[in-house]
Amino acid sequence: MARHGKVSVIGSGFYGTTTAQRLAAYDIFDTVVLTDILEGKPEGVALDINQSRSIEGYQTKVIGATTTPDGEGYEAIADSDIVIITAGLPRKPGMSRMDLLEVNAGIVGGVAKNIAKHAPNAVILVVSNPLDEMTALTQKASGFPKERVIGQAGVLDTARFTNFVAEATGADVANVKTLTLGSHGETMVPVPSVSTVNGKPLTEVLSAEVIADLVEKTRNGGAEIVALLKTGSAYYAPSAAVARMAKAVHEDSGAVFPVCAWVDGEFGISGVYLGVEAQLGKGGIKKIVETPLDEVELENLKVAAEAVRSKQADIANL
Ligand code: 2OP
Repeated sequence: MARHGKVSVIGSGFYGTTTAQRLAAYDIFDTVVLTDILEGKPEGVALDINQSRSIEGYQTKVIGATTTPDGEGYEAIADSDIVIITAGLPRKPGMSRMDLLEVNAGIVGGVAKNIAKHAPNAVILVVSNPLDEMTALTQKASGFPKERVIGQAGVLDTARFTNFVAEATGADVANVKTLTLGSHGETMVPVPSVSTVNGKPLTEVLSAEVIADLVEKTRNGGAEIVALLKTGSAYYAPSAAVARMAKAVHEDSGAVFPVCAWVDGEFGISGVYLGVEAQLGKGGIKKIVETPLDEVELENLKVAAEAVRSKQADIANL
């Protein structure tokens, strides 16, 4: 398919800049716009990425734009097909994602309103933390249809689980399939029953005890990196995850990803943004997939739904 369309990335921290670089390197968009409130940062990063194009062999142009919290500079994202929100603070060592709720709600709410004004037909992909709550807030603040606001978490958490299983079994990472649903936090729901290693059920390859350890390691996957980095949080795997989602939307591929999506009746759960599998394409979520879960996994998904539902309700009072 010929190169076309425009994707914008809000926030030029490590998450935003690595995402912009990955999107440009796909060479499927006409333009990648990168913004930040830090004057000159997005313009500088855009110059740097553009200067790598002749070496790497892609044409997509990156445009940097400084914005202000009250919306100046947002004309740069006008009519974007996809907008990715990375704006907000990352965790510090010892913090939970939920500790960022208040400060990031202010930032992300403002960003969502500016997106609604300048890119009213975009699909919004949210990565700011706490993820499930920021996704719900973005939908509310933008007023967009729920299928056009999607959170990134499951692709990342699943990739972490896959990596840990590959390391524990010695299998090639390409031959390991895993899945995580639920929240991007305490109530993350890794799904061993649909996970496989070289085509064999995970439950036949590793003991229940080892699987439980890997599940716990996956839940703490982000915090482990925050503790090691000491400043900032992970961005290589997170940016890979959201860039793939943007690609699926752009190409209208219908590929199935675990994402934070509005659930309304599936799994017997209603009226909440939650990590589930869904088909992505033009217009955002094409369809929620009701992954077959065992009894415990389904129960855990329901627990996750209630946990994030109460936090998402709190957002209305911020
Ligand atoms: C993580 O889990 C940034 O929330 C993201 O690393």
